[in-house]
Parts: sequence; C-alpha cells; structure tokens
Amino acid sequence: MELRNYLEKAKKQSWAIGQFNFSTIEQLRGILAAAQKTRSPVILGTSEGESKFLGLKETIALVEISRIKYGVAAFLNLDHAKDIKYIKEAANYGYSAVHFDGSSLSFEKNIEYVKKVVTPVRKKGVLIEGEINDIQRGSFTNAEQAREFIERTRVDSLAIAIGSIHACYENIKLDFERLKEIKNKTNAFLVLHGGSGVPAEQIKKAIKLGINKVNINTELRKAWAQRIKKELLGGEIKPYKILAKVQEAVQKKVEEKIKLFGSFGKI
Ligand code: G3H
Ligand code: ZN
Repeated sequence: MELRNYLEKAKKQSWAIGQFNFSTIEQLRGILAAAQKTRSPVILGTSEGESKFLGLKETIALVEISRIKYGVAAFLNLDHAKDIKYIKEAANYGYSAVHFDGSSLSFEKNIEYVKKVVTPVRKKGVLIEGEINDIQRGSFTNAEQAREFIERTRVDSLAIAIGSIHACYENIKLDFERLKEIKNKTNAFLVLHGGSGVPAEQIKKAIKLGINKVNINTELRKAWAQRIKKELLGGEIKPYKILAKVQEAVQKKVEEKIKLFGSFGKI
C-alpha cells in the first residue's frame, strides 16, 4: 500500500500516522524496529538539514534497504523544506512526500511557490504537504484561509497551527474548536506539527477530531541525547555498544507514540 492509502485509511478510521525525524542510522533503526514490532506504518521525516547531513541519496538508499530488512511500511517525507530545487531532487530520487514550508511567505507568494512544486512533484506520485501559518511563532490557522489554500494549490496535506509549537513543552492548549472548523471546511489530510510535549489526552482528542498525521522530533532527540550521555558518562567508548543502547531508547519512544496515535496493527 502507498502512503496515500494509509493516510486515507487513517482518516476513515480516526487514527494517525506518526512522522518521526532522523538523521543518523541508529535513529532510523530505532524507528523501524518500533514500526516492525507494532506492525504500524510510519513516516520517516528529514528536514533539509537532517537529509543533507546524512546525504540525500544515502538517506533514500538506506531507507530502501531497511524497508526490506524490517519488512515495514515506511515512507520518507522531506520536512519543512523551503528550497524548491532540493524538493524536486528529493522527489526525483525517491521521497514519498515533501512538505513545502511557505509559512514565512505572504499568503499569495506561498500559493505561487507551492504551485511550482505541485506539478513536477505530483508527476512522480509524491504527496505534497503545505503550510500557511508559522507554527513556530504561535500564529493560528484560519479555517477559511485553509480551505482557499487547499483549493487553489491542490496540496494533499496541510500543516495546521492550532496551538502546538515546535520543541515546546509547557502550557500547550490545542484549539479544538478551530480544528473542528478547519476539518469541516477542508478535505486534505490534516497534520499536527510540534507533537513533542503535547499531552497525550490532547493528542488523542485532536486525532479523533481529524488530525491524520502527527510529527515528532524533539522527544526522539532527547531520548537519543540522554542515552548517549549516560553511556559516555558510564565510560563506554565502543560506538557499536553505545549506539545499540541509543537505538533501543529511540525505539521505546516511537513505540509509545505509535500506541498513542492508534496506528499499531494497521499494516
Ligand atoms: O516537523 C517536525 C515537527 O513538527 C516536530 O516537532 O520537535 O516539537 O516534535 P517537535
Ligand atoms: Zn514541524
């Protein structure tokens, strides 16, 4: 099944697919081991920076070989991309989805740029996620604007701003009334960014009300960093021993999120 089919299934059955970001092999393995154990589809996110560190072609090759090794439904998404040339490259080389982050542009410029991405990328069967509000700065998505943006750009998914902020852990209060309104006016897949630190009950409610994809990065980075620190402070220096533990820590965190999102057993 392709990513679009999984998202359709999630939408119909009210669960969500997790996007888990990575930039190293042990992170990737941790995510895939979790997906394998829980029989859950997963989206593998890489920002431009994360994919450039690992290498775009290496990232794709690694994921292709790992999908076979782990026997999982895992799909690459280029997360928060702003460089149109780079987006096209990712789509040509084998990403399943791209997220054009035009949130810093004016509404009209954002539409103009997304359109430049949609046509070439769609020819490759790649899904496109748009974004109209700067999640980072705490601005909120207007339902009518969301409807207009989707209608004019024909994006497959939309990152909506309803109160979550990247890497934020305190006082998160998702605006469920706004989510309901957006859901009523649109039919694209709805994406919640800044998933780290959002209380479990709020995540569950957001999924019930129409979120189809939840992005998690910071919590995985923290699990990674805490474990590597522990191993190093404990005196271990063998990379394969340290990173095996780090992989387990990432896996545990991803399993926890998969259970929360309700995507276990869906492949
Ligand atoms: O695009 C990635 C995310 O929105 C991750 O946000 O670091 O708060 O989990 P987070
Ligand atoms: Zn994000």
